[in-house]
Amino acid sequence: LDVPETDPFDVARQAAEQIAEKTGVEKHDIALTLGSGWGKAADLIGETVATIPATEVIGFRKPALTGHVGTLRSIALPSGKRALVIGARTHFYEGHGVRHVVHSVRTAAAAGASVMVLTNGAGGIKPHWQAGTPVLISDHINLTASSPLEGATFIDLTDLYSTRLRELAKTVDPSLDEGVYVQFRGPHYETPAEVQFAKTIGGHIVGMSTALEAIAARQAGMEVLGLSLITNLAAGISPTPLSHAEVLEAGQAAEPVISALLAKIVGLL
Ligand code: 6GU
Repeated sequence: LDVPETDPFDVARQAAEQIAEKTGVEKHDIALTLGSGWGKAADLIGETVATIPATEVIGFRKPALTGHVGTLRSIALPSGKRALVIGARTHFYEGHGVRHVVHSVRTAAAAGASVMVLTNGAGGIKPHWQAGTPVLISDHINLTASSPLEGATFIDLTDLYSTRLRELAKTVDPSLDEGVYVQFRGPHYETPAEVQFAKTIGGHIVGMSTALEAIAARQAGMEVLGLSLITNLAAGISPTPLSHAEVLEAGQAAEPVISALLAKIVGLL
């Protein structure tokens, strides 16, 4: 993926073949990327058929962060569908380039998935959001100054975060709130002024993932469901400075509740 002449879709097809070989599952119907706070959902959605270290699959990198598991799991859902759970996310801030960031999404598409569930832990701009609140992503603003698309690939991003899937999620929990996700590059959190900027331009959630992946999912023809766990209020909205430890803690505390929620939603997909 680091060689410009390499076709990233070719690498994704090879990765999907390797996953099919290693899991014995020819086709996966849906894929989930489980960000901080969402990991437990993998144990709740169905029966794990196979677990493989992501590093054994072409194009995947070892996760840089603790709290990210680094495995790919094939899960049999009660419905008979197969889910590919991606516990290995490469963030844009790691600096390996956008091809690495979206490789898992392209691999999921090549593995047959038509629905991509993207989850993350993020900062909240709406002051009434408590740490531990799950929020549906209704749209995004990409402030990474990057795109997974290369060359003259002009694709439409209307309804990128599927209205149909958001309505489905709300049948599980009608109190689920929605918000516009703003992807910053990170890895630092935003300044209070940047959070005010995000708010002014229509954002409600700030984070360091998801938007680039959602774009790649749309390009691949997948339907996207996006969910953020609000782990903390964003800088300037929060009365106290942010700490990564507290963000992880909030994620762990909310994990049982939001994982159960996600499992119920996945049951309807
Ligand atoms: Cl406040 N900002 C960003 N970019 N990511 C976060 C966050 C804030 N809180 C958790 N993840």
